[in-house]
This record gives sequence, structure tokens and C-alpha cells, in this order.
Amino acid sequence: MRLSNELMLKIESLIDGISLSELALARQALTSFYKEEIYIKNFNYLKSDSLRYAYLIARFPATYAVIYRVLSEMQKRCGPESVQTLLDIGAGPGTVLLAALEAGLPLRCATMVERDSGFIKLGKSLVNESFEQHWLCRDFTKELKLSSHDLVIASYSLGELCDSDRIQALERLWRLTNKILIIIEPGTKAGFESLKKMRKSLLLNGGFLVAPCPHSEICPMQKKDWCHFSARIERSSSHRKIKDATLNYEDEKFSYVIFSKNKREACQNRVIRHPFKGAGFINLQLCSKNGTEEKTITKKNKSQFAYARKIEWGDEFTLV
Ligand SMILES: C[S@@+](CC[C@H](N)C(=O)[O-])C[C@H]1O[C@@H](n2cnc3c(N)ncnc32)[C@H](O)[C@@H]1O
Repeated sequence: MRLSNELMLKIESLIDGISLSELALARQALTSFYKEEIYIKNFNYLKSDSLRYAYLIARFPATYAVIYRVLSEMQKRCGPESVQTLLDIGAGPGTVLLAALEAGLPLRCATMVERDSGFIKLGKSLVNESFEQHWLCRDFTKELKLSSHDLVIASYSLGELCDSDRIQALERLWRLTNKILIIIEPGTKAGFESLKKMRKSLLLNGGFLVAPCPHSEICPMQKKDWCHFSARIERSSSHRKIKDATLNYEDEKFSYVIFSKNKREACQNRVIRHPFKGAGFINLQLCSKNGTEEKTITKKNKSQFAYARKIEWGDEFTLV
């Protein structure tokens, strides 16, 4: 996917006048913050405008593409579920709201909780001001004293907490959820492991798992493996320059769960790797109600083969 021209222009105008070398240095610092998990030890790690701008250029498009993809999955699975109110936890520059508006969610208003006032300022300049929005400069590990919202999303934010704070925060978010709760984490082994614990906790709290899992049993992923998906985003020229990158796109790996307060039909199978498309056959790695399994579809089965050719990593796969 590609950011809309309107959004790209807004971002370009925000960084106007800042040198690319300053942004490139800030981008490197940002990368080491995430690699070395400095955010866990340092409460206010995004402490300069150049770091926030580097986030906007180098990270925001990727998390935006991921959120858009997860929201599309929610819409597919939950149908025209009317989510009118959104609560975004650890909102950064408002990535969730911007992606939700692009995905066409019928939102009436949104509340963003973010501890960094610099990010809130950036977010306010990115979201159309005519939309009803409430930005709260708060620490979400503390009691938020908010009313419940139809859709609650924590995108790349719960991972910034230590294990015990994360589960407590999660239980509070579940109480603040009217209909749907979505958690998104980086598609790394660590991101998946923390998501797996959150999945277990939400199931114990009576949540109904909507996606990506085809069942609510113990996750069958093998020890060395992890369940993750990928979203492709086009890189802007500033993005390429500050990353010294040659490709005009990047693939962002992510793990996620969508939980509902109401019972939903789970998917039959989830494609958990890039399908291997050979001459006359397609190999699919699936997570199904029986655990993880490999399925080969050959040309002999014309209709299934035609269907499997269009299937991508992360899609549902239904046997007909
Ligand atoms: C990696 S950014 C993700 C931003 C956005 N959700 C996205 O997907 O692009 C994580 C954000 O969570 C915020 N955050 C982390 N812990 C927080 C806390 N305890 N209270 C409020 N905000 C927090 C950080 O300040 C940061 O803006």
C-alpha cells in the first residue's frame, strides 16, 4: 500500500527545513532504541523533535500499513459491525485513527492516549481537525477513568511494558472494550511471545478470538517458530534517503490478535507462510483446527488451484 498524497504532503510539510542528515542520525538512534529495548528502561525515550520526525518518516508508514491490514481483517470477519467509538492506546502520532479513517470505519469520535506531548502535537496536525478527537496526555499503565469504547486498539505499544504491567494494562483495556479489542506487536519472536501470553489472558477473561487463529486452543506454533505476517508499504523518497535504502518498498512484519466481546465464526485455516507456487502445484503452510499443517494443491483440482493461486500469506484458506 501507499500513504495517500494528502498524508504524504502533510508529513513532508512537517519535516520541511530539517536536514536529511539530522533525520538520518535520529533514525539510527530510533533503530537502536528499539533493538536494545531502551524504551523499557527509559520512560521518555522519544525526547526530541528529530526523533519524532524520524518515527514519522521511517516507522509510521509501516505501522500504518499493518494497522490498515489488520482493520481490513476485522471488517472481513466481523462484517458491517458498527464501531463508532475508537480508543487508541499508545497512539504516537495518531497512526491508528488515520488508518481507521482510510479503512472506512464508521467512526463518530476517537480518543488517543499517549504520554508524549510532542507526538500528540504531531498527531493533531495530521488528523483532519473537523473529526471529533480527544488527545489525552496520560500514562496508560495508570487507571484511565474513561468510558468504554466500541473498538480499542494498542498498536506497537503494550510491548513497551514489562510483563506484569502488560497483563494488568491488558485487563484494563478489555474492561474498556464494548465490542472489539485489537493488539498489534512487531512480528518478532519476542513480539509473538508477549502476544501469546496476552491471547491466553484474554481467553481466560472470556474473550472470543476473531483472528488470526482458527481456534481458541493452545497455540500450536513450534517452540522455535512464531506466528507473524507481513505488510508491504511504498517508501517515500525521504524515507529512502534517511534509511539509505534502494528498494522503493519495505515489508513490515507483525503479529496481532483481534478479540470480540461476542461469539464469532473462526476462520477455517490461516496461511502462516508465503505460499510456495511451483509448476502445477501450490504448497500452503496452514494453521488449522488440527494444529499447523502443510497442504499441497495441484492443478488436477481446477477450482481449488485457481483459488489457491490468489491466496497470500496471512489470508484465510477455506477448503471447498
Ligand atoms: C512504537 S510507538 C507506536 C505508536 C502508534 N501506536 C503506531 O502504531 O504507530 C509506541 C507509543 O506508545 C507510547 N507509550 C508507551 N508506553 C506508554 C504509556 N505507558 N503510556 C502512554 N503512552 C505510552 C509511546 O510514547 C509511543 O508513542
